Amino acid sequence: MWADLAPVGRDPDGGGYHRHAWNGADTDARAWFTEAATARGLDVRTDRNGNLWAWWGTPGPGAVATGSHLDSVPDGGAFDGPLGVVGALAAVDELRRRGTVPDRPLAVTVFAEEEGGRFGVPCLGSRLTAGEISPERARGLTDASGTTWARAMEAAGHDPHAIGADPGALADLDVFVELHVEQGRALEDTRHPVGVASAIWPHGRWRMDFAGRADHAGTTRMADRSDPMLPFAHTVLAARSLAEEHDARATVAKALVTPNGTNAIPSLVSAWLDARAADGATLDAVVAGVREAAGRAARAHGVDHAMANESLTPLVSFAHGLRERLAEVVATRAPEPGVPVLPTGAGHDAGVLAAHVPTAMLYVRNPTGVSHSPEEWARPEDCHDGVLALADVLQDLLAR
Ligand code: GLV
Ligand code: MN
Ligand code: MN
Ligand code: MN
Repeated sequence: MWADLAPVGRDPDGGGYHRHAWNGADTDARAWFTEAATARGLDVRTDRNGNLWAWWGTPGPGAVATGSHLDSVPDGGAFDGPLGVVGALAAVDELRRRGTVPDRPLAVTVFAEEEGGRFGVPCLGSRLTAGEISPERARGLTDASGTTWARAMEAAGHDPHAIGADPGALADLDVFVELHVEQGRALEDTRHPVGVASAIWPHGRWRMDFAGRADHAGTTRMADRSDPMLPFAHTVLAARSLAEEHDARATVAKALVTPNGTNAIPSLVSAWLDARAADGATLDAVVAGVREAAGRAARAHGVDHAMANESLTPLVSFAHGLRERLAEVVATRAPEPGVPVLPTGAGHDAGVLAAHVPTAMLYVRNPTGVSHSPEEWARPEDCHDGVLALADVLQDLLAR
């Protein structure tokens, strides 16, 4: 199964993955899923927001759901997302091998645009379903070439006018579990192949625009410039210091320079701040500090500055009883006692669903500790342990 999906969207020159909502690779990955799920006798449906649901049993109330996403960040790794989808199908195989006959429906899900790699808002498919973003705003989101979500979705054969909150779909779910590669080294350090999630840090994305005046790089005296690159650079350094000061995370990893010529002072620098912290107050303090530093630097350089929030996910604490239960189930196969229960700074569809459905996550050890990069990794034997743990958990949940 993994071998069929692995080449889809991978840079043929040895880089990472480029699967982004509704692009060719994403469409191929979704087709792969539909075929793999159908071959297992699952009934594959696409919901109004373009998320895929493969049902074992008749869709309806009391359902157990598990899954993840198939899209990647630009130049992403192989496991973030696909492990939770392939793992869910493999867990279905395992349950069938055990002779499990679910007395309630099980859904394997693939959520659209989890990374926000193309349209900027992460977990867009699950956010739409949860009613946490308006259909109007989602339809109008644009990619780097100016294509809207609505046009891209339509070109992929889906009706963008149908998108929006789907409370009925969520009301049918009794529980959602996402299997995911760990995006740090805690499991490697504690020598556990599988761990359980405790919480997701509050996190968000902010767009920052620094608007100056384009001019000649050789003839414009330094004192006469209104160069947006300078306050932008100050802001990147300020974000770093603020994150260190608050024991938080702040990253500026995406920037667009206009007109992007070597010998023209830029007229505009647009950049995105990704900020995350252990609690909402700390996150607010970091973002307020960045906003203030950016404003100050912009004024000092005669540049206009604007900063707007594009997405925000508050602190997620996974259902306590559920995660205890997962930890107990995982402990039955763990190589040593004390299954790690870990908070993460990474966002997930599970974090969006958690406000509506009892939700939990399992992590599979990542020996490199690296994620959102081609170096992301999980050993085959650990993936196998993750699948068995997921199957145990689903079996336990389906029996209730
Ligand atoms: C998504 O994986 C994120 O945390 O950015
Ligand atoms: Mn990710
Ligand atoms: Mn992910
Ligand atoms: Mn994610």
